[in-house]
Amino acid sequence: MARKWDILGRVSDLYVGKSTLFKTFLLAGVAAISILFSWYTLGLINKLQVDTRDQVEKYVQLWQLAANSPTSGGELQFIFDEIIVKARFPIIVLDGDKKPVSWRNISGIAPDDTTTSVKERLREIAQEMYDQNGEFPLYFGDTYVNFLRYGDSQLINQLKVMPFVAIGIVLAFMIVAIVGFQNIRRSEERYIWVGMAKETAHQLGTPLSSLMGWLEVIGSENRSGVDAANQQEISDTTIDNMKVDVERLLRVTNRFSQIGSIPELKECDLNALAEDAVVYYRRRLPFEGKGIRIDLNTGDIPPVRLNAELFGWVLENLIKNALQAVDARSGRISITTKLAVDKRHVQIEIVDNGNGISTVAARKIFRPGFTTKKRGWGMGLTLVKRIVEEYHVGRIVLDRSQPGETVFEITLPVAGR
Ligand SMILES: Nc1ncnc2c1ncn2[C@@H]1O[C@H](COP(=O)(O)OP(=O)(O)O)[C@@H](O)[C@H]1O
Ligand SMILES: [Mg+2]
Repeated sequence: MARKWDILGRVSDLYVGKSTLFKTFLLAGVAAISILFSWYTLGLINKLQVDTRDQVEKYVQLWQLAANSPTSGGELQFIFDEIIVKARFPIIVLDGDKKPVSWRNISGIAPDDTTTSVKERLREIAQEMYDQNGEFPLYFGDTYVNFLRYGDSQLINQLKVMPFVAIGIVLAFMIVAIVGFQNIRRSEERYIWVGMAKETAHQLGTPLSSLMGWLEVIGSENRSGVDAANQQEISDTTIDNMKVDVERLLRVTNRFSQIGSIPELKECDLNALAEDAVVYYRRRLPFEGKGIRIDLNTGDIPPVRLNAELFGWVLENLIKNALQAVDARSGRISITTKLAVDKRHVQIEIVDNGNGISTVAARKIFRPGFTTKKRGWGMGLTLVKRIVEEYHVGRIVLDRSQPGETVFEITLPVAGR
C-alpha cells in the first residue's frame, strides 16, 4: 500500500506512527502486567493449596487419634468443633459406601440439611473434590473406614478470578487511553487543516490585491494623456510586476496542491532558494517597512535534498516572522547559509534584531496555535518544524533570543551522505 504523504498527511502518518507505538506499548504493558499478576496469583494459590493439604493431613491425623483413643467421645467432639468446624476450606466426610455423612463450609448447603436433593448435590461436589485432591481415608479401629475429601477455600476461589479482574481493569484503562489519544489527534489534525487553509488564503490575498493595484494602474494609464512611447514603457513595467504576482499566485497554489500528494525531495541549491525568498520579501519592503534591510550571506555549500516548494515556504515563514518582530525603521534581518563543522550538514541561520522571544514563550513557539500576535494563527512555526524535521530529516531550533537578537537555526543533511 502506497503511503500518502503531504504536510497534513504526514502529520496524520506521524500520529498513526505514534499511536501504533503507543498502542504497542500499552499492549506490551497490559501483557506484562497480566502475566506478572497471573504468575504471582498462581504462585499464591499454589502455596495456599499446599498449606491446605498440610492442614488437612493434620486434621486427619488428629481426627483418627481422637477417634481411636480410649477416651473418644468428648475429644472427638472437641476436635470437630474447634478444628474441623473452624477450617476455612470445604470438607465432606463420606462413609464406607461413599455416601456423604457430614460436611462443612459447602457454600449454599447447611451442615444439617439432609434432603435428597442436597445429598445429590453433595455427591457431585464430593466427586469434584476427589478429582482435584483425592481423598484421605479415616480409620476408626481396623474395620470402619470413612473418607475425607476437601476443596479449595473461598479465598483460593476468589484468588483464581483475580488475574481476570486485573486484566479487565487494565484493558478498560487501555481503551480509555486510546480513545482519549485519538480524540486529541483528531482535534489537532482539524486544527492544522484550518490553519493551513487560512494560511493559504492569506498567501493568495497578497499577490491578488497587488494584481488589483496594477490593474488600476493600467486603467489610469489608458485614461491619462501620456504619449504612446512613454505609455508603452509604463505598461511593460506594469506587466513585469503583474507577472511576478501571477507567478507568486501559481507558487502558492502549487504549494497548496501538494496537500494530498507526495512531494519529492530533489537535490537543490539551497542558496538559490534562500535568494528567492529574500528577493520576494525585499520587493515587499516598501510596504512592510522602508527602513528594514534584509541581508543574504550565502556560504559555499553542497547541494541538499529538498522539496523546493515546501522549503521555500519554510524560509518565507521565518523571514515573515522576523519582519513582524523588527522595527520598521531600523530592522535588520540576515540569512546565512554555511557548511556545518562536521561537513555533513548545512546550516541556515535567520537572524533578526527584533523584540526577541521570552524564555517562557520560547518553550511554546513550535506548538500549534501559539501566537503573541493579534492577528496570528500560531501555525507558522508548527508547520515549519514539521516540514524541516519530519520531511527533510533536519532540525530547527531557536538558537538564542533576546531583545535585539533572535536566531533561528536550521540544520539539514548534505545530499548523498
Ligand atoms: N523572529 C521572531 N521574533 C520574535 N518572536 C517570534 C519570532 N518568530 C516567532 N516568534 C514568536 O513565535 C510565535 C509563533 O510564531 P508562528 O508559529 O509563526 O505564529 P504567528 O506568526 O501566527 O504568531 C509568534 O507569535 C511570536 O511570538
Ligand atoms: Mg508566523
